[in-house]
Amino acid sequence: MSRAREGGAPGLPGPVRAVLCVCLGNICRSPIAEGVLRHRAREAGLALEVDSAGTGAWHAGEPPDRRATAAAHKQGVILEGRARQVAVEDFARFDLVLAMDRSNHRDLLARCPRPHVGKVRRLGEWDPEGGAPDVPDPYYGGDEGFDEVFALVDRCARALVAALQAAARP
Ligand code: 4NP
Repeated sequence: MSRAREGGAPGLPGPVRAVLCVCLGNICRSPIAEGVLRHRAREAGLALEVDSAGTGAWHAGEPPDRRATAAAHKQGVILEGRARQVAVEDFARFDLVLAMDRSNHRDLLARCPRPHVGKVRRLGEWDPEGGAPDVPDPYYGGDEGFDEVFALVDRCARALVAALQAAARP
């Protein structure tokens, strides 16, 4: 039995059809999370809209970091899209806004209109290994940091997809 069915995974804010993954620059962690979540949802036959954004705008318009693209490609996941900054409309448009770390989470809550604060969560809350870890920023490190980010994001994404499927069952 999965942790979600045992009640080990965190609750969801309501029906989830669209998810926004958010990090600082939107070129490393959140594009990986977007690609992995879309990939795992498709594999599971779950209809899910997935996008990503950054709390900052420094890299707006850029494709994902080539190290992120390479780490994902090795695992059969294609990264899409261009970086953009999170917009206030995102909090209404998406059902779940997933921060990669505590700093992103704080920044998002500071911008989030009050009715939507329950949608703002951290991806690590769904880590089946427990501990609700932050997804570490790999930008200033080497390629292996991107493989570690991929592995952490992937196990959280699989658990989240399982939880969404369980929640969608009548
Ligand atoms: P991300 O990584 O938040 O995972 O996209 C970063 C990308 C760029 C910078 C920092 C983190 N930067 O300082 O430009």
